[in-house]
Amino acid sequence: MQVCFFAILKIVQILAHWQIKPGVDHSKPLRFVTYNLRYDSQPDSITVQQSLDNLPDPLPAPGYLRKNGEQPWSLRRLRVAEHLLGEGIVLAGFQEALVRQVHDLAELFGEDWDWVGVGRDDGVEAGEYSPVFYKKSEFVLRSYDSFWTSNTPFTPSRFPGAGSHRVCTTIRLQRRQGGQEFVVLNTHMDDQSEAQRRHAASMILARARYEAVTTRSPVFVLGDFNSPPTGRDSGAYEITTGVRPPGALPADFAAKFSVEPGLPPFVLHDLRAHTPRRAVSANHATFTGFTAPNDTRAWSRIDFVFGGGNGGWEATGYKVGSARTDDGVLASDHRPVFVDVTI
Ligand SMILES: *[C@@H]1O[C@H](CO)[C@@H](O)[C@H](O)[C@H]1NC(C)=O
Repeated sequence: MQVCFFAILKIVQILAHWQIKPGVDHSKPLRFVTYNLRYDSQPDSITVQQSLDNLPDPLPAPGYLRKNGEQPWSLRRLRVAEHLLGEGIVLAGFQEALVRQVHDLAELFGEDWDWVGVGRDDGVEAGEYSPVFYKKSEFVLRSYDSFWTSNTPFTPSRFPGAGSHRVCTTIRLQRRQGGQEFVVLNTHMDDQSEAQRRHAASMILARARYEAVTTRSPVFVLGDFNSPPTGRDSGAYEITTGVRPPGALPADFAAKFSVEPGLPPFVLHDLRAHTPRRAVSANHATFTGFTAPNDTRAWSRIDFVFGGGNGGWEATGYKVGSARTDDGVLASDHRPVFVDVTI
């Protein structure tokens, strides 16, 4: 009897430690987004607070489609935050975010948010981040790390022939309600090297499998693959989804993230194809460029959300949002991709 009492006390203490509320409905879908923000290519010194203070009061009607082309981040950032928060997201994987952009979004998202990630050029603050933001009232951070999708994954580095250093952020989170854990990987593949993209996809597939096997939890991969699902440059997507076999891994990476032999093959599923058709948006292109509304030549689908083949998740919504507002400002040259998942 006493043993039983202490066992229950221990469980209560563990639950209290992780601030988990047992016995609640955790079937409520979670909304994730992946969004390439376009790096801060026209930097200025305007603070978030100055942007907010400088908004006219009352807000005027816009000059419809008056602006076109790329606008400074200081004009784009309020739109990014308002749009994403208005969609009720609980987790965001961004790409191309320079440190100023990470800090601006942390400020705009507010106290209930935290984030993980590193600048890809030095593993600290230099270069673009692929950060993961998450809502603290929904999730407890269990662990996170970054690896480079190169031949030397544990130091900031560039794959031979790639245009840039490329990094992947891995985060393990636990839901406060119900206590379910899950894993998210967020990355941005190279724009110039198909070989880098295939290498990155092979590494990410292996890491996702390792996470699936070791955590026995749902796994999601978010990112800008800089390449489409079909056609000549679709190697990364094909490796991710199991259509094409993965390539060789760096030895230290393969050793660190190895799983026991004999397990069934592991693939990732494109959530666009795994969401009921009625809940898939008509918007398709995730990259639009800073193009005029009538110029769709560059439009393509290169940003994805995948769910691990080990399951534990169900996709109930998939939506490519719009980055353009009535005044013609594009919040980014990509569009946000929202998914609703139950885990
Ligand atoms: C878009 O419209 C503008 C203004 O009418 C025109 O100059 C331009 O050629 C159009 N672009 C395309 C790709 O149709």
